[in-house]
Amino acid sequence: MRHALPMLFAVQFTMLVMMPGAHAADPLAGRATAEQWCANCHRVAATGPGPVSDAVPAFAAIARNPAATAAGISTFLRTPHARMPDLSLTLRQSEDLAAYILSLRP
Ligand code: HEC
Repeated sequence: MRHALPMLFAVQFTMLVMMPGAHAADPLAGRATAEQWCANCHRVAATGPGPVSDAVPAFAAIARNPAATAAGISTFLRTPHARMPDLSLTLRQSEDLAAYILSLRP
């Protein structure tokens, strides 16, 4: 276990080196996670069918909020919220999800 953390950094560093120009946050990975974990409650696609509830904002509606930022969404997703389950997302998952949500911004 002692070596797990340096190992993780090494792997991430290698991935960064191998993908020149790649952003840290990956909206496509975020979309895949959203379809798996969020689509039960949220309409995750920009348009089209999905659950509709006044209590649960569609991702496109979240993106339209001019106050929404990647950091804000990512932090929200890693903070316990009353009406949303704690999905134990990793930092990377939450950043990818935030990048996906903001990619829906018109
Ligand atoms: C069990 C249903 C449920 C699931 C699953 C769920 N959410 Fe939510 N989510 C909610 C509800 C309800 C709210 C509104 C919370 C509130 O207003 O207090 C919300 C709010 C949010 C908000 C804040 C919206 C705003 O206006 O600030 C974001 C961002 C969000 N969800 C993203 C996600 C993501 C990403 C996932 C998947 C990883 C997810 N949610 C999974 C029910 C859910």
